[in-house]
Amino acid sequence: MSERSKTLADDPYGGRRPTSHERQSGEPWDASYQDGPAPWDIDGPQPALVRLASRGGLAGTVLDAGCGSGDNTLHVASLGLRVLGVDVAETALEQARAKARERGLEAEFAVADALRLGDLGREFDTVLDSGLFHTFDGEERPEYVSGLASVTAHGGTLYVLCFSDEGPEPGPHPVSREELTAAFSSGWSIAAIEPERVLTRRHPDGAPGWLATIKRI
Ligand SMILES: C[S@@+](CC[C@H](N)C(=O)[O-])C[C@H]1O[C@@H](n2cnc3c(N)ncnc32)[C@H](O)[C@@H]1O
Repeated sequence: MSERSKTLADDPYGGRRPTSHERQSGEPWDASYQDGPAPWDIDGPQPALVRLASRGGLAGTVLDAGCGSGDNTLHVASLGLRVLGVDVAETALEQARAKARERGLEAEFAVADALRLGDLGREFDTVLDSGLFHTFDGEERPEYVSGLASVTAHGGTLYVLCFSDEGPEPGPHPVSREELTAAFSSGWSIAAIEPERVLTRRHPDGAPGWLATIKRI
């Protein structure tokens, strides 16, 4: 057994408190990546983020919080931007690094708990959240948002792509416009909350979503 497997077998949460999603599912996030692709792993970037990038929405240094197996991060890297993808799932990060090697792209990937983003001790001009915010419950969100504030440069931009509660066949963890507005009511200015589609393997045409553009003030 490798050192990493031994450590994960001892404590699959690596010393951190399991998130509400992990407590509910009874499994660490890493388990989703161990037997074939996770349901949200569409083997490419989210079209909403590709469109956002093509209209010049991404700039400077970029953080992808909860990057999973890295397709959004690598799309950012393909634009020539410096990008760090962080996740708690080490298996996902191994997959992300392998994709980067295969595609000849340069991106940094690191294990980090998005509920303690301040520990990174770094600041980014653009922060992406594709499918992470909506996994946190009402208790975790303030902690997450305060960590986001510490890593987003003043004047920088945070994009949150999440499931929405508007429209037929919502995805898991649908979020309302009001919840988004309330979560970013202090230290942030919401520039836009636009209806979008979030693709998953179960929703190839996309489930109802929001793309929120949020400025750090
Ligand atoms: C629904 S997936 C989305 C993955 C990727 N962003 C995408 O769009 O395909 C949520 C991701 O967030 C990660 N995650 C969940 N809680 C986290 C935390 N506290 N810190 C860092 N990553 C976390 C999970 O491991 C998973 O990779």
